[in-house]
Amino acid sequence: MKIALGVGGGIAAYKAAELARLLMERGHEVEAILTAGAREFIQPLTFAALTGRKVITDLFAGGGSDEVLSSAIEHIRVAKDNDLLLVAPATADLLGKFAAGLAPDFLTTTYLAFPGPVVLAPAMNTNMWEHAATQTNISTLRDRGNHIVPPGSGHLACGMVGVGRLAELGEIALAAESAFSPRRDLAHETLLITAGPTQEPLDPVRFLSNRSSGKMGYALAEAARSRGARVVLVSGPVNLKPLGGVETVRVKTAREMRDAVIARLPEATMIIKAAAVADFHLEEIPDHKVKKTPGTFRLELSATPDILAEVGARRARNQLLIGFAAETQDLVREARRKLETKNCDMVVGNLVGDGLAFDSDENAVTLVTRDGDAISVPTASKKEIAHRILDEALHLRAALPMTP
Ligand SMILES: Cc1cc2nc3c(=O)[nH]c(=O)nc-3n(C[C@H](O)[C@H](O)[C@H](O)COP(=O)(O)O)c2cc1C
Repeated sequence: MKIALGVGGGIAAYKAAELARLLMERGHEVEAILTAGAREFIQPLTFAALTGRKVITDLFAGGGSDEVLSSAIEHIRVAKDNDLLLVAPATADLLGKFAAGLAPDFLTTTYLAFPGPVVLAPAMNTNMWEHAATQTNISTLRDRGNHIVPPGSGHLACGMVGVGRLAELGEIALAAESAFSPRRDLAHETLLITAGPTQEPLDPVRFLSNRSSGKMGYALAEAARSRGARVVLVSGPVNLKPLGGVETVRVKTAREMRDAVIARLPEATMIIKAAAVADFHLEEIPDHKVKKTPGTFRLELSATPDILAEVGARRARNQLLIGFAAETQDLVREARRKLETKNCDMVVGNLVGDGLAFDSDENAVTLVTRDGDAISVPTASKKEIAHRILDEALHLRAALPMTP
């Protein structure tokens, strides 16, 4: 891969030299672009020596008229010649300029001219990172499809301890590689994914629900979409940003979720039920708010529809079915029981409680399939776990018949 490596004017600029070396070791070609700010921290010569190439510093390089002419189109040449634009460290200033579409120097001009994937690895003081302006810029850039490698936390050069350190160089290199050659191995699949909790009304103002945030289901939907799948996401009430390129059906109750899933079932080649559906609901919901009374108050609840079991019974032979089991104990046994009784191809077990799984950005799961041992997937981001589940799903799908 040919990488245009933009370096911004932050303390972490020195790490960009090591990053250039790492990328070259991994077989990539690197062309460095240093902002004026970056040149306050590190010399272009370092990059020239490491990459064996001229380092770009100025938009309006002076000199004779020929040079002016060639430099006038240089940013277009860089945008055309390179497969990927990687900016590390991306300063708060650069993020703002990229987000706003400002182009006062070579790197920002190249950003606008660049048609390929863009990977940004920000690094800055914690307050700068957490500032609403920076966060809004990050959101804009992410929505635009730029890949953000989030900063890590730890001791910062400014003396603070917090978020803002440039991500690990290996992580940045991996992010660049996967942004350049995204897998399209789900291009022929339609995934029906459920996510989030359900809310079961008790009266017009109260409901029963659970701690599910929907993050795992949304991570699956996003990962599947990035691998080329068509995705229908049936989502309970969550506080997550809608996903671009994903058809989202919003529901509240278990009954509504069941109806949406059954309606969309015929389109699906894979069904992943990551939602935490309520097991019980109130059959007759009072029209008016229930008044506070002294003493105890009894609720008689009845079972909600078992969506997984119904899908398991209705599914065609060529549809893959994956369930989730959130358990507080006996994870593998419960997952196996669910696999058998609900006619699933795989059950993703996760231990919940004590800050695990629910509402966390990380998860650790166990994948239980019909044949084969339970596969333990150690703690990782929900995005990584989502890709791991999809890898396994593809593997299982290959063994299914082609016809219903
Ligand atoms: C000593 C010093 C350290 C700095 N470190 C950072 C940093 O880590 N991240 C950041 O976003 N800005 C940092 N800045 C501010 C930037 O250098 C400043 O916003 C500059 O305009 C960035 O230029 P550029 O975005 O064109 O590279 C630092 C400034 C100084 C003087």
